[in-house]
Amino acid sequence: MTSKHLWSGRFETAPDSDLQAFGASLAVDKRLWQQDIAGSIAHANMLAEQSIITTEDAASITSGLNEIAARIEAGTFEFNTQDEDIHMSIEKALTELIGEAGGRLHTARSRNDQVATDTRLYIKQQTKALAEQLCELRSAFIEVAEANSTVIMPGYTHLQKAQPILFAHHMLAYYWMLTRDFKRMMAAHDAADLSPLGSAALAGTGHPIDRQKTATALGFAQVIPNSMDAVSDRDYLLDLIYACSVTMVHLSRFCEELIMWSSNEFGFITLSDAYSTGSSIMPQKKNPDFAELVRGKTGRVFGDLIGLLTVLKGLPLAYNKDLQEDKEGAFDAIDTLTQALAAVKGMILTMKVNTDVMYQGAQGGFMAATDLADVLAERGVPFREAHEIVGKLVLLAEKQGKSLDELTLDELSASSPIFAKDASIALEVLKIENVVARRTSEGGTAPDQVREQVELAKKRLDSDKDSIL
Ligand code: ARG
Repeated sequence: MTSKHLWSGRFETAPDSDLQAFGASLAVDKRLWQQDIAGSIAHANMLAEQSIITTEDAASITSGLNEIAARIEAGTFEFNTQDEDIHMSIEKALTELIGEAGGRLHTARSRNDQVATDTRLYIKQQTKALAEQLCELRSAFIEVAEANSTVIMPGYTHLQKAQPILFAHHMLAYYWMLTRDFKRMMAAHDAADLSPLGSAALAGTGHPIDRQKTATALGFAQVIPNSMDAVSDRDYLLDLIYACSVTMVHLSRFCEELIMWSSNEFGFITLSDAYSTGSSIMPQKKNPDFAELVRGKTGRVFGDLIGLLTVLKGLPLAYNKDLQEDKEGAFDAIDTLTQALAAVKGMILTMKVNTDVMYQGAQGGFMAATDLADVLAERGVPFREAHEIVGKLVLLAEKQGKSLDELTLDELSASSPIFAKDASIALEVLKIENVVARRTSEGGTAPDQVREQVELAKKRLDSDKDSIL
């Protein structure tokens, strides 16, 4: 049996029951119940203050909604799967609970401004929670950088060993990506922080409402100036999913590194058992599943973004039912990022950094080749010529299966009159610690620069944390 519908006045038959589930969004928008109740209470109070309904009715609506909130919280509220969405569920329950006054709540309101209000309130809360999580992860990156401040590892370009760097420098690179992600997340918060309430279905209302009052009561920064825009704008959800997508890109890149580093071939890190899984057949296996999942789930967040862009692109003004498709992807992006941020934080705070393996990886090879050329250049050899001289030394060493620092003094001396005069210059330069220490340009990998970077990162983190509140 289908219960009496909200629009039963105009309709002679109930909606097709086979399509009921197709049209419903309750399973998805259920999570907006707190925002829906808060929005309704603010609306009812405003209606009473404007003498559109009586204060008695407003009081009865408020206590009824609080009762429903308590029941949902306690898990004793029974959601009827026949209800189309959370707004109808709550309004129906309210009328069952308080009678006629419940029917006055929807005066000067439509589900179109209602759903936009609820979703915006929810996104404001969630973007702040994500921004906080981003700060926690940034703090974890600083912690790992500081705990390993002298560790040297190979830096790569094209995934070929390029120049030795501090592991801390590598960690801080992610810190700065996440710092920009934080900014994007807060921008998404600000985009959501505008009130559509009082726009009604699309054109506003003839009732003497006060939109500023509900906006203030709900903590919105401002009201949206155009009622049609207010009920059909979903840009703020695009901003949110875009912010989530970029963060997922960064987490995915980092997870790819964790996966490589934890392989036998690299051996740079060992993930904690708590963040790895075994194999059902191969007893020796320890798999970086969670890092892989972060990388894998990045795709679904991109899908959420493309999905919503596509929903919006052909919609005429104002509300269209297509807009009901806005929430599932946005919520999925939030949920996925929430879990991914927690997973990455857990992984880095518990992983073992195999400092010796990293150091060994930075040794040998030809990563000091640029420095050797620089030494010649500093002593007056044109850099192009220096490049050529060192290139020949690399070839010589490579043919003998040696690294540059294993070349003999004679071999070095033969390459250039400068080394002939003093081959120890070359040997000093080739020491890996010196190679790192020479990178003193602003933002470079020299220990002093990285120390300054840590200070800068901490300061920035503190001020960002303050800006969330
Ligand atoms: N469940 C709907 C949504 O999420 C609520 C708004 C419905 N409005 C309407 N005119 N059918 O979009």
